[in-house]
Amino acid sequence: VVLVGARLDSATYVRMKKRAAAEVGLHSVDVALAADATQRELLAEIERLNADASVHAILVQLPLPKHIDESAVLGAIRVEKDADGFSALNIGNLCLRGGDAPLALPCTPAGCVELIRRTGTAVAGKDAVVIGRSNIVGMPVAALLQAMDATVTVCHSRTVDMPRVVARADIVVAAIGRAEFVKAEWLKPGCVVIDVGINRKDAPERKAGYKLVGDVDYEGAARVASAITPVPGGVGPMTIAMLLFNTVNLARHARGLPP
Ligand code: GUN
Repeated sequence: VVLVGARLDSATYVRMKKRAAAEVGLHSVDVALAADATQRELLAEIERLNADASVHAILVQLPLPKHIDESAVLGAIRVEKDADGFSALNIGNLCLRGGDAPLALPCTPAGCVELIRRTGTAVAGKDAVVIGRSNIVGMPVAALLQAMDATVTVCHSRTVDMPRVVARADIVVAAIGRAEFVKAEWLKPGCVVIDVGINRKDAPERKAGYKLVGDVDYEGAARVASAITPVPGGVGPMTIAMLLFNTVNLARHARGLPP
């Protein structure tokens, strides 16, 4: 687990990932670099982990500080150790029809799809609307839903009349990072809502002065949707579960075992 800098959210996520790894008995190696670490220093750490036979999976927590080229860093991780499934080869295989199976799927998207699957929703032929087009969530979750034969629409900051687009969705995945952006009135009754957002909202009544809310107005949406994920406690734990799943699969792959 590689963490660069001291962002509080990233440090929290890394701590939770390491705790989960320890709980299931995975060995984890901690690499913490200062916020002003150079790209060369980071790449040298990745090379060291690439070469370490006792390490099966490497995770570089994102976002990286602005002076570091994210794609150069992700590209330096050996694909056989790509714990997040973010490498161009794994993403390419995810998007190809009839390509090789990716060695790992991006954790949050895989967690979203697992949640949808467990609602019992038959995804094939359904209208899915993904709000957000990030490399970490929006793009890969859209690819996964398309691979499951959903008709997928991706909304983003330039989308005109988003409520009209969301209104036809049987499945909504919200991943834009804007507090309570998606309103209950936008949703088709009975739809399934997966809320990937984790945003701070002022809450003077709380000791911390804020609370965490998703990208969806939960209170309202819960009255319209047939299923909805809470924030926190919905998608977040699934991201971590999928990271453990990827790590075990990469270790199996290193031993020549099937996934
Ligand atoms: N930052 C936000 N989500 C993720 C994730 O799933 N993996 C990594 N490495 N960084 C993230």
